[in-house]
Amino acid sequence: MSYVDFYRKSMDHPEHFWKTQAAQLDWYKMPQNILSKNKSDHNQWFEDGKLNLSYLCIDTHIKNGYGEQDAIIYDSPVTATKEHISYYKLHLEVSKLAGGLQSLGIEKGDTVIIYMPMIPQALYAMLACLRIGVVHSVVFGGFAPQELAIRIDDCKPKAIITASNGIEIDRIIPYKPFVDDAFAKAKHQPDHVIVYDRKLGVQIPAKPYDIDYAHLVETSNSIEAVPVASTHPSYILYTSGTTGTPKGIIRDTGGYATALKFSMKYIYGVDEGDSFWAASDVGWVVGHSYIAYGPLLNRNTTVLFEGKPVRTPDASTFWRVISEHRVKVMFTAPTAIRAIKKEDPDGVMIQSFDISCLKYQFLAGERCDVSTLTWTQEKLKVPVIDHWWQTESGWPMLANMVGVELQPIKGGSAGFPVCGYDIRIVNDEGKEVTAGVEGYVTVKLPLPPGMLSNLWGNPERFKSDYLDRFPGYYFSGDGGYRDEDGYVFITGRVDDVINVAGHRLSTAGMEEVIASHKSVAECAVFGVHCDLKGQKPLGLIVLKPEYLADELHIPQEIIQALRREIGAVASFKDILVVNRLPKTRSGKILRKLLRHIADELQYNIPSTIDDLSIIEEIKSIYQAQGIGIHK
Ligand code: COA
Ligand code: AMP
Repeated sequence: MSYVDFYRKSMDHPEHFWKTQAAQLDWYKMPQNILSKNKSDHNQWFEDGKLNLSYLCIDTHIKNGYGEQDAIIYDSPVTATKEHISYYKLHLEVSKLAGGLQSLGIEKGDTVIIYMPMIPQALYAMLACLRIGVVHSVVFGGFAPQELAIRIDDCKPKAIITASNGIEIDRIIPYKPFVDDAFAKAKHQPDHVIVYDRKLGVQIPAKPYDIDYAHLVETSNSIEAVPVASTHPSYILYTSGTTGTPKGIIRDTGGYATALKFSMKYIYGVDEGDSFWAASDVGWVVGHSYIAYGPLLNRNTTVLFEGKPVRTPDASTFWRVISEHRVKVMFTAPTAIRAIKKEDPDGVMIQSFDISCLKYQFLAGERCDVSTLTWTQEKLKVPVIDHWWQTESGWPMLANMVGVELQPIKGGSAGFPVCGYDIRIVNDEGKEVTAGVEGYVTVKLPLPPGMLSNLWGNPERFKSDYLDRFPGYYFSGDGGYRDEDGYVFITGRVDDVINVAGHRLSTAGMEEVIASHKSVAECAVFGVHCDLKGQKPLGLIVLKPEYLADELHIPQEIIQALRREIGAVASFKDILVVNRLPKTRSGKILRKLLRHIADELQYNIPSTIDDLSIIEEIKSIYQAQGIGIHK
């Protein structure tokens, strides 16, 4: 069937379309009520269905005779470890850990935070929670204890599952000490911290709340998966918004499982039994959907890679992993490709490996510049598919659905709407714009299965952030346009969210940290162009007069504070002291103008600025400091 026909079916008969897809899963109770409204008048999928995501990711395959197949290949250049984990072994690890959690009094509906590096135990922990209906929230390891504490207070976990350490190239990252620090900072106190000791030779002081992961698993009984309702939350995943407070995206179970299973075949074009590799981190949505649940649901072998595209040990690592584990479809962020291209511009290292197994290379997480796409295509000699999605969607909203029909690739475009997504580009008044005109990217309701069902503890923010701006539509926060041929181009966020190396970060959160420094009168943070990471944050500060003499060392102090409060992941390295900031008459700082000047993009000087010297002042500071495009 052609993409157009398939897509039309999903639009014209959504209930029939998704009922057929849901039937691909091994439900305890097949749903009859396909699409309905919940108490808050928001759509929900498969309301009366019962299933268990952990069961579908593991037990189903064993039942069907595939227990010996590799479920996970753990490849860790940073520890020189490779481990093949069969579905049998996965079952044992997960069902015993689930038994352990149960023995600690953790029950269906409770929450558990997982703060772990890229090791198999992170996946075991996620699947063990789901096995007993516990709602997990994985927090990315690059976030600092303060950010972890904010999440602890928001989702009030009964336990935290962590590891002694992570490894960043050749540095030991103190995960457990970070958890202890967060524990001390948080108001809510979880009952237990379950610690997987990686035995890296680092002494970590024991705390009264500690439970040894290995001992817990060893001494616990395997338990069966418990059926949960389709609408039961599978997880909470915090993401950055326009305020400093992160928002907890809630994912349901039945809609999510259906969407992921569908996406493996029709978007990524992988068959059961194939090897699939998403080079991301379990702390991000890509890690949830395409390191863990999507491939396991589809009985693929998923590669769990603990390393970087470069320096572990060099720019050939990706090609080695593809070749060695016979990866059919790979997924990474354009930043990773740019990092490789910088080290190996001619792609010479690729030639040492047989990557003939690779059929498609997918890219997402940030806008993909055409030169990165073209380079990848030329060097790998496979279709390179840019596709667009967000933490909120949980799976792609725009793509080239290669499992249905490969469309010609157009550089700069993230493709066409995926089945179920009625993508509309609208103007300020919510009216659809014509081809070629940029607007806000929205999805007409009802949302397809798999998309967020609410925000944890904050249904008002769910409405105000996503549904109120354009009634009848979900607002993505991205701008974009559709061309004459129907290809959609995402041009970037229209709010104060930035994307650094494919990591989504809130500038408001960074401003909060900067503004709390005693010397700062006012500040602005925004994202500027970065050749490697796409964007990087830049902070401008105006100092209080009594601190002007300390102008030289204050930026360093603030940078350290940002690292301490938000984490290394913010990649915050640049702060400039300025005399004043351009503002509107009502006092709003013109961040977009500041960004456009740095990136040498076209800008209009608002009529509120009557003294043009402020623009010249900013320009010369940028130039002197080598900021943005001037670098
Ligand atoms: N735990 C602890 N710290 C972490 C971390 C983790 N899981 N991940 C990153 N960090 C730290 C890094 O060590 C680095 O710290 P530093 O400033 O002390 O060096 C900082 O956070 C920034 O990390 P990163 O963005 O990874 O930058 P980098 O300079 O170390 O590496 C790249 C550059 C391009 C190799 C890297 O950004 C990369 O692999 N990008 C692809 C990202 C990706 O796949 N994103 C997809 C999300 S869907
Ligand atoms: P996250 O929620 O962390 O996955 O980040 C989602 C945001 O990343 C989106 O709202 C976009 O701004 C950006 N993004 C993701 N994929 C793409 C893409 N293919 N092209 C452009 N921007 C993207």
